[in-house]
Amino acid sequence: MVTVLNHPLITHKLTQMRKIDTKTKDFKQNLDEIAGLMAYEVCRDLPLKPVHVTTPVAECDTFELLNDIVLIPILRAGLGLVNGINNLIPTAKVGFIGLYRDEKTLMPHEYFAKFPSNLKDAVNLVLDPMLATGGSANAAIEMVKQRGAKNIKLVCLVGAPEGVEAVQKAHPDVDIYLAALDKCLNEVGYIVPGLGDAGDRIFGTK
Ligand code: PRP
Ligand code: URA
Repeated sequence: MVTVLNHPLITHKLTQMRKIDTKTKDFKQNLDEIAGLMAYEVCRDLPLKPVHVTTPVAECDTFELLNDIVLIPILRAGLGLVNGINNLIPTAKVGFIGLYRDEKTLMPHEYFAKFPSNLKDAVNLVLDPMLATGGSANAAIEMVKQRGAKNIKLVCLVGAPEGVEAVQKAHPDVDIYLAALDKCLNEVGYIVPGLGDAGDRIFGTK
């Protein structure tokens, strides 16, 4: 399933990020805010369990989240989505996957991995602003599955049709959430119109 989160606030903030003149501070702030808005929608169908609590006034049968939530940013750019989601889900655990995309071959290369225990019973949110060829997302999802994860959602800001198709083909069980589905990839594997190199724009490199 692919969900494109059409919401005026998300669209407006993403437009600010797309602008070539938007500097690091505003780029990061808009990403942070979009991440929070996306989290609200991504978590819409999370399962709940019944609990009994005592309020200051009375006994109460109510619900709380059934599963742990694990945020798994793909370094570096995925880090830009962590704070906004963590603000809504402060109990979330965080794992890390270090991948960089070779500029010539566009193939992902792993350089780091660190996960909390028990991905198997958790809802695992793999985070990366950019879904271009889908190579990085597919590699990350594979790494998470190898650690036993069953419930995985991929949360990206901007996707290209090529990347969406690649992830759907390799991992049909993984739901994909996007703030925008763009037109295509260019000859060097950048999303068009996209927003450029997300990692460089978040961290002020280049
Ligand atoms: C970017 C982006 C994704 C990947 C997308 O990361 O953040 O991880 O490219 O491309 P793909 O779908 O074709 O794999 P990059 O490798 O530039 O690393 P960075 O986040 O450290 O800048
Ligand atoms: N990675 C990025 O940061 N931007 C793109 O457009 C494609 C891959």
